[in-house]
Amino acid sequence: MNFDEELRRKTEETERLLAGFLPEAQGYQRQVIEAMNYSVTAGGKRLRPMLMAESAALFADPGSAAMLPAYMAAIEMIHTYSLVHDDLPAMDNDEYRRGRKTTHMVYGEGMAVLAGDGLLNLAFETAAGALEQARSVEDYRRGSAALRILGNKAGIYGMIGGQCADLEAERASQELTEEALLFIHAHKTAALIQAAMTIGAVLAGADKGGVDRLERCACNIGIAFQIQDDILDVTGSQEVLGKPIGSDERNHKLTYVTMHGMEESAREVERLSREAVEILASFDRRNPFLEELVRALIGREK
Ligand code: IPE
Ligand code: IPE
Ligand code: MG
Ligand code: MG
Ligand code: MG
Repeated sequence: MNFDEELRRKTEETERLLAGFLPEAQGYQRQVIEAMNYSVTAGGKRLRPMLMAESAALFADPGSAAMLPAYMAAIEMIHTYSLVHDDLPAMDNDEYRRGRKTTHMVYGEGMAVLAGDGLLNLAFETAAGALEQARSVEDYRRGSAALRILGNKAGIYGMIGGQCADLEAERASQELTEEALLFIHAHKTAALIQAAMTIGAVLAGADKGGVDRLERCACNIGIAFQIQDDILDVTGSQEVLGKPIGSDERNHKLTYVTMHGMEESAREVERLSREAVEILASFDRRNPFLEELVRALIGREK
């Protein structure tokens, strides 16, 4: 298997799948729909839907597979909305994202708020719509369990909770504790990655033990992913990243890098990722692409 080729093929596939779930910009709501589609079609690594599909492939049962595409689209809509809001002047105040001007720069702040809200609602409409594909009581059970995970991990006990602590830490006068930093990473970033991987598992009929193990694995991947994001905010280039560097410093953000330095941060990304791969390798069915993907994220440049 040529990993880079496979990755490109799967990214394109995800791109096509996603396009099929986007609304047509028309009517009096044309502007908000345009802003939603502008942010979603700007590209991005499509990591979360990919992790969902690859996690589903870890389990033999293709039973509820018909629902998978809708959930893949839903997680990317939620992720994109979190970026649109994260870039707003009231939050990180960034002007570029995914190689384009941010949504609020093009459509204005009000429309960017609405586009984020629109994507969040469309995500749940799309995911709930997948229940129409259910063919059995077991399908319904899996679909509703997946919906609950999505709401939980995107909300106050997940991503929003992490963004809340992240914002507060910016304004706090005292030093950020190690525990608080871990909370921020585990919630603002790892939670959606956990949602992606456990939803994939649930739809593919994983038992509770399997789902729990994947949730721990995804926590490692997510924390490593955010530490690497913090590293790239210092050492990356806007051209490759598609977003400005130095955003954290400008916002007086304490990150893993400011607390532990560059070298230890890089070592931690590696340690967490290796542990994640070990968990993946402990499943009865191996997924070599998924294991390679987690390894490839260690030294990513975007
Ligand atoms: C950016 O996520 C926000 C973080 C959680 C660090 P990604 O780096 O996955 O962004 P895209 O989707 O590729 O643009
Ligand atoms: C944001 O973390 C995580 C989200 C929930 C959007 P960052 O603020 O570091 O993400 P970037 O660097 O803007 O992508
Ligand atoms: Mg932020
Ligand atoms: Mg940001
Ligand atoms: Mg960042």
